[in-house]
Amino acid sequence: MTMAAQKTETEAQAGNKDMKEIVALCKRRGFIFPASEIYGGFNGFWDYGPLGAELKNNIRDLWWKAMVTTPPLGPDGQPLQIVGLDSSIIQNPKLWEASGHTTSFSDPMVDCRETKKRYRADHLLIYKDRGGALPWVAVFEGDEADEDAAKRMKKVAKNISVENCDVSVLTDLEVSDFEKIIGPDAKEVGTLTEPKEFNLMFKTYVGATASEDNVAYLRPETCGGIFVNYRNVLDTARVKVPFGIAQIGKAYRNEVTPRNFIFRSREFEQMEMEWFCHPDDAAEWRQFWIDERTKWWKSIGLKDTSLIHREHDADELAHYAKEGVGTVDIEFQFPFSWPGFGELEGVAHRCDYDLSKHQEHSGQKMEYIDPHTNERYIPHVIEPASGLTRGVLAVICDAYTVDESRPSGVFMDFHPSVAPKKAAILPLTAKGAHPEIATKLYMELREHYAIDLDIKQNIGKRYARQDEIGTPYCFTIDDQTAEDGTVTVRDRNTMAQERIHLDNILSFLREKIG
Ligand code: GAP
Repeated sequence: MTMAAQKTETEAQAGNKDMKEIVALCKRRGFIFPASEIYGGFNGFWDYGPLGAELKNNIRDLWWKAMVTTPPLGPDGQPLQIVGLDSSIIQNPKLWEASGHTTSFSDPMVDCRETKKRYRADHLLIYKDRGGALPWVAVFEGDEADEDAAKRMKKVAKNISVENCDVSVLTDLEVSDFEKIIGPDAKEVGTLTEPKEFNLMFKTYVGATASEDNVAYLRPETCGGIFVNYRNVLDTARVKVPFGIAQIGKAYRNEVTPRNFIFRSREFEQMEMEWFCHPDDAAEWRQFWIDERTKWWKSIGLKDTSLIHREHDADELAHYAKEGVGTVDIEFQFPFSWPGFGELEGVAHRCDYDLSKHQEHSGQKMEYIDPHTNERYIPHVIEPASGLTRGVLAVICDAYTVDESRPSGVFMDFHPSVAPKKAAILPLTAKGAHPEIATKLYMELREHYAIDLDIKQNIGKRYARQDEIGTPYCFTIDDQTAEDGTVTVRDRNTMAQERIHLDNILSFLREKIG
């Protein structure tokens, strides 16, 4: 496919998806709710409803299978060695001192003296009037930035417009220029403070005394628990370098501006694997994992055209990265980033940073002794680190398909492997033989797949619901079923219907879903 054709197809996919509609569907159908919604929600926190929990678990289980149960074959054709781990969310705070998080895991933020609000400085765009005489307007970056800026400018002066402005990120400006800026929620000019670094780790106190000596942190990334268990795993799991340790779990970051639905939240889940290898092989393994991880995202249904790779620029390298070896992000085209892309997963070359730091801080040896050559070295680490919850959002956005020809106006084109329900059984009427046959079929199929048995409401509404929750197949029981044992099977994407015999439904699902 040519680049131009690829771009047009990509635009058609993410460009016509409305994030507000997607969020509304997630709420309406029970995928994702604001946390503590009855108390007004809680910014940056989300609850996964019945279908959201199923979708998330499916993605989680597929990652675990692809990484731990049946890891990929390596370049030599042999299965890689990867073992799993489930470490504590709260660890000894020395871990985060050694890893550099206590001092360096921060974002620049500015406060507004007028509104007392706090913003991420690198997420504020400043619209600067080229005429030079008028105040500058600060708005949040994103696809609505121009619109927001235009609205705010109207309040400042009638004769300025977005077209007459230059746009800069706040952090690229001189502090002396802040005098000219009106903050995102302010009325007065010059109320934003100088940016300060704000540590993103959530603090808590362990034990009964709330003193500085008892401070601990909720983990900001799952990999910390992997590094401190590297020796334990090496000594007990009969693994040899190269090998991996994989973990899935919650991580917490006190993000200054959580936004874009679940994309950037304060509590989220990560799926991380640390691949320990010989320093000379690290570059090759990095490429291996970029390819494998991209293949995996496609295998769970993300479209080829929705994904790109992006090498980090020198100025965005993480605190553990050494000059010249960086991170490649696998990015997805979210509706809110369109026509751009947003990070889904990073494949980082962490060198020996973490193990060396833990060796230095704990006094425990992290060296590996090659059993064949007796060479001693601290392994280098390649880390494919992805967001499980961000993956849920990517899968939802990719699956969301507008189709005005059907009553729901939309359907979720989930890959069958992630679909929360693999099939629905719908008796045409709620009484008599139809629900009886349906229940019998349900009892049989539920042993094999996540099945929805939906008995009440008119059939059109029930199909619409299944379209919106992305169920690949609906089996409808009608009068003919009682006569000849056949049911209609409706394909979610094509809406085509055919009749198959009750006895063949399980093999039908096995063939279509796996
Ligand atoms: N151990 C490396 C690490 O944590 P990261 O790029 O900060 O790297 C990895 O995080 C992944 O975790 C990201 O690619 C993203 O998918 C997810 N993630 C990070 N911060 C997040 C947040 N605030 N909300 C949701 N997902 C987040």
